[in-house]
Amino acid sequence: MSVRILALVGSLRAGSHNRQLAEAAMKHAPEGVEITLYEGLAEVPFYNEDIDVEGSVPEAAARLRATAAAADALLLFSPEYNGTIPAVLKNAIDWLSRPHGAGALSGKPVAVVGTSYGQYGGVWAQDEARKAAGIAGAAVLTDVKLSIPGSVIRFAETHPADDSEVVEGLTGVIEQLSRAGAAAA
Ligand code: FNR
Repeated sequence: MSVRILALVGSLRAGSHNRQLAEAAMKHAPEGVEITLYEGLAEVPFYNEDIDVEGSVPEAAARLRATAAAADALLLFSPEYNGTIPAVLKNAIDWLSRPHGAGALSGKPVAVVGTSYGQYGGVWAQDEARKAAGIAGAAVLTDVKLSIPGSVIRFAETHPADDSEVVEGLTGVIEQLSRAGAAAA
């Protein structure tokens, strides 16, 4: 049976390079690993304890929780917004962190990668995503990293799936994450 990895992308724009990075991961996933890109983070409302009520959780949030719970591991793709994690990704982590101690992230292997325009490739945001996912109870692969700088220039004409250095880095990340996912399944 395949190891199922769910990809969450922290950018909503159509031409997102992080989305393209996730597409590259799907295209180059090794045998036995199935990567699915989650569609629908934009519809998930801002986390609010008043609406996180058992039996009446908003459909978009409930679907996110169920999809994440069914995955063996999560791979987060994050650009950096003003030195930190984009709100859309933080919101997803918040929904997946509850119920406290029993959220979909609890014990789930998670790796974080990403690309950003800046010279460090969004490392602050990716570190923040690791921190938040870890506090949410995920089994974060803290040493597994891939931050690609200069996104806007590097991927202006080359899709990440056609960039051999990127594909090599991504493949390494996926192999480590899928091993952790298989062990946790
Ligand atoms: C950015 N960008 C950015 N880049 C960076 O390296 N460090 C940063 O702190 C910021 N801050 C920031 C804030 C906001 C609100 C926006 C819209 C953008 C640039 C960012 O890296 C660039 O737009 C990426 O292309 C975004 O990723 P996607 O959409 O291509 O996946």
